[in-house]
Amino acid sequence: MTSTKELLTLHVNGEALTVAAEPHHTLLEVLREELGLTGTKHGCELGECGACTVLVDGAPVLSCLTLPVLMGDAEVTTVEGLGSGERLHPLQTAFAEEGAAQCGYCTPGMLMAAKALLDGTPRPTREQIATAISGNLCRCTGYTAIYEAIEKAALRT
Ligand code: FES
Ligand code: FES
Repeated sequence: MTSTKELLTLHVNGEALTVAAEPHHTLLEVLREELGLTGTKHGCELGECGACTVLVDGAPVLSCLTLPVLMGDAEVTTVEGLGSGERLHPLQTAFAEEGAAQCGYCTPGMLMAAKALLDGTPRPTREQIATAISGNLCRCTGYTAIYEAIEKAALRT
């Protein structure tokens, strides 16, 4: 059978990576299946849950609705690129301290949405936090611990 895969270069977490991928595959699929970056979670695949959120040129994007073949040289940041080396990002530390990750399924997407917020708005109000994570659903925490973790990280960044 002839492969329909095409070579594709993606810029992920500071590296240029060339992979063979089906041209109709989403960024979520290519990250997880071709690049082994399984931190980005596979949820609804319909743009409704936010579990697949990554940053593209610093802005939160739903990777289940994004086609890599259309991304050009855009820089993708996944949760694997959030900390630096062995050091956790302040958001990761605060999420752990505040119990803002329970089952953890929403957490990578939530962290990336929160990072985009803090990068642009270092001291967000609770309303700004609510808006920033409004596309990220969490079934476990009731959100309060997530708000508190983001506020705590804001004081440390
Ligand atoms: S998996 Fe992308 S929004 Fe749910
Ligand atoms: S911690 Fe379980 S969905 Fe958010």
